[in-house]
Amino acid sequence: MTPFQYLASTKQKRQKELFDLLKFPSVSAKSEHKKDITACAQWIKNHMKDIGFKTKVYPTKGHPVVYAEYLVDKKLPTVLYYGHYDVQPPEPLELWKSPPFVPEVRAGYIYARGATDDKGQTFTHIKGLEAVIKATGTLPMNVKFLIEGEEEVASENLPIFIRQNRKLLKADVVVVSDTAQFNKSLPAVTFGLRGLAFVEVFVHGPNRDVHSGSFGGAIANPVNILCSIVGQLHDKDGRIAIPGFYKNVKKMSVWEKKQFKRLPYNEKGYRQSLGISATHGEKGFSTFERSWVRPTCDVNGITGGYQGEGAKTIIPAVASCKITMRLVPNQNPKDICDKIEKYLQRIAPKSVRVKVVKHGGATAVEVPTDGPWLDAASRAIEIGFGKQPVFMKEGGSIPVVADFKRLLGIDTLLIGFGQNDDNIHSPNERFRISDFERGCRTAAALPFELAKVKP
Ligand code: BES
Ligand code: MN
Ligand code: MN
Repeated sequence: MTPFQYLASTKQKRQKELFDLLKFPSVSAKSEHKKDITACAQWIKNHMKDIGFKTKVYPTKGHPVVYAEYLVDKKLPTVLYYGHYDVQPPEPLELWKSPPFVPEVRAGYIYARGATDDKGQTFTHIKGLEAVIKATGTLPMNVKFLIEGEEEVASENLPIFIRQNRKLLKADVVVVSDTAQFNKSLPAVTFGLRGLAFVEVFVHGPNRDVHSGSFGGAIANPVNILCSIVGQLHDKDGRIAIPGFYKNVKKMSVWEKKQFKRLPYNEKGYRQSLGISATHGEKGFSTFERSWVRPTCDVNGITGGYQGEGAKTIIPAVASCKITMRLVPNQNPKDICDKIEKYLQRIAPKSVRVKVVKHGGATAVEVPTDGPWLDAASRAIEIGFGKQPVFMKEGGSIPVVADFKRLLGIDTLLIGFGQNDDNIHSPNERFRISDFERGCRTAAALPFELAKVKP
């Protein structure tokens, strides 16, 4: 039996097992899910143990890390696989066609929170490697797995774990599947991710909500002020108005520009898929450039005052919002947080008190665009997908990728199995079954290709 035959004969079982993994509401952002997180980590540990991995769950200050290894021979390359089992909050629940933690198949897709991001994609590698183990009795290289539970909340405790377990995690290269393919007929290798800086802004006015007739007009309204502040984050050309924001921004290389130009872009399809009549962004840049290599500043949510039924005529005491800034190479999250704080304090009128809570974030990363590891990954993708991958970047962030380089000195291969329309972080997240299958075949081919590389 070959690994591919094993995969073909276990399709239903594999899908059922993925369903079991997707049933855990492992939402890292919410403390009420602490138990579900722990149970999910335990499930993965047991599942990998049954396949033949040596496994252990490591507690951290936050959510636990699942570590697993299958070591064959010191002389063979060692590959560290990274994934995350935590998921984004599923809200708004009323927009889901089936409940987020009750997986369901509809028209060739598995629907559930985490289906693609990142339980489904991580599970793809586990199943691909399982197929090799079952078919050949071993693996052609050494494998380590690091599956964390805090990626969606910026992996705060993971660098500490990595620093404390350098030897345990020692490897020649990292494999991560937590990105997307270019489209349904074009697989991709991602060569860069944006970083992130995250702040919360509070605008305080009167010491309590007050009557908008008695006081309106005479005092500042925190909601009005917050909106005006947010309105000053960009200039009329869509550039971010925070002084010094672009100071370190890395310019696109000629090679990079060329790669982006080679990728098919369908403006109309892009607009239609999002239900918008026009795109929007920084003047002078294409949609790919705007979403992959230019920094952003966006409000994720804004709150203040009365939003219940009917009228309540008040000047609210406070208004707040959450802002994330996507960063590009050479921008530093802490420095950017300081800059936005300074700017907001400067543009806010004396009539309100502004508080900026800075949360830091992640640095942007670029990974090698050539070399034997990348060639091996490309060959595996070609085997699994029947097509050579294209090079692209992604606008999202995976904080630990920079830490792998910084703390362990290892490069990462970003091999996405998802699609841009899989609704990650949205209602009705899904994983295309054919992508799961093509991914599993790629994952089963990958160890043989990586094993050919002399570390
Ligand atoms: N898998 C995503 C990253 C991603 C998104 C890659 C889109 C490619 C395309 C990851 O789980 C994620 O959502 N990361 C967070 C990190 C943040 C909380 C620090 C993100 O990008 O918002
Ligand atoms: Mn992810
Ligand atoms: Mn995510």
